[in-house]
Amino acid sequence: MENLDKIFSALNKLSYGLYIVSSAFDGKKNGQLANTVFQITPNPPKIAIALNKGNLTHEMVDKSGLFSVSVLEEETPLTFIGLFGFKSGRDIDKFEKVSHQMDGDCPIVIENALSCLKAKVVAKMDAGSHTLFMGEIISGQILKNGTALTYDFYQKNKKGKTHKNATTFNKITEK
Ligand SMILES: Cc1cc2nc3c(=O)[nH]c(=O)nc-3n(C[C@H](O)[C@H](O)[C@H](O)COP(=O)(O)O)c2cc1C
Repeated sequence: MENLDKIFSALNKLSYGLYIVSSAFDGKKNGQLANTVFQITPNPPKIAIALNKGNLTHEMVDKSGLFSVSVLEEETPLTFIGLFGFKSGRDIDKFEKVSHQMDGDCPIVIENALSCLKAKVVAKMDAGSHTLFMGEIISGQILKNGTALTYDFYQKNKKGKTHKNATTFNKITEK
C-alpha cells in the first residue's frame, strides 16, 4: 500500500455529521455516537451505518434488526458526546438520564437532536472490524430547527477527539 500517512490525510478530508445510533434487545436499550451514517437510496429511502463489532450497539442492531438515528445539533455538549462516544452500554445505562422516546421496541434519543429516523435492517456486510448495516426507513420526525453538528465542527470548534472504535480512527485523528 502507498504511504499510509498520505492516505490517512486524504481520508481525513471526507466530511461527516455526528449521530446517535440506538437500538434495543432483550428489554435493554443502548445507543452510541457514530459519524458513519449516510443515505443510500431515495425511494424507498434507505440508510447505512458502520458499527464496530465490539460495540454493544452493534450486538443489539444485529440481534433486533432495528435501529434509530438521531441527528445531533451543533450546540450538543461534549459531556453528552462523551457519554455516547466514549462509554459503553456494557458498563453503564446511557439512557438513564437522557430524553428519549420508544417507537415500539426501538429507543430514539431526542435530547440535542434535530431529527430522527427509525430503520429496519435489510442487508449487512462484514467489513472486518466493522459491519455495514443497511436499513430501510420506517419512520422519521423533525424535532426542532437548527444547524446539524458536523464532524469538522466537532473537531475544530469543540476540539473533540475520536475513539479507537470509530471508522475514522487513525494516527492523525488519534491526536
Ligand atoms: C467522534 C466519534 C465518532 C464515532 N463514530 C463511530 C462510528 O461511525 N462507528 C462506530 O462503530 N463507532 C464510532 N464511534 C465509537 C463509539 O461511539 C464508541 O465505541 C461507543 O463507546 C460504543 O458504545 P456501545 O458499546 O455502548 O455501543 C465514534 C466515537 C466518536 C467519539
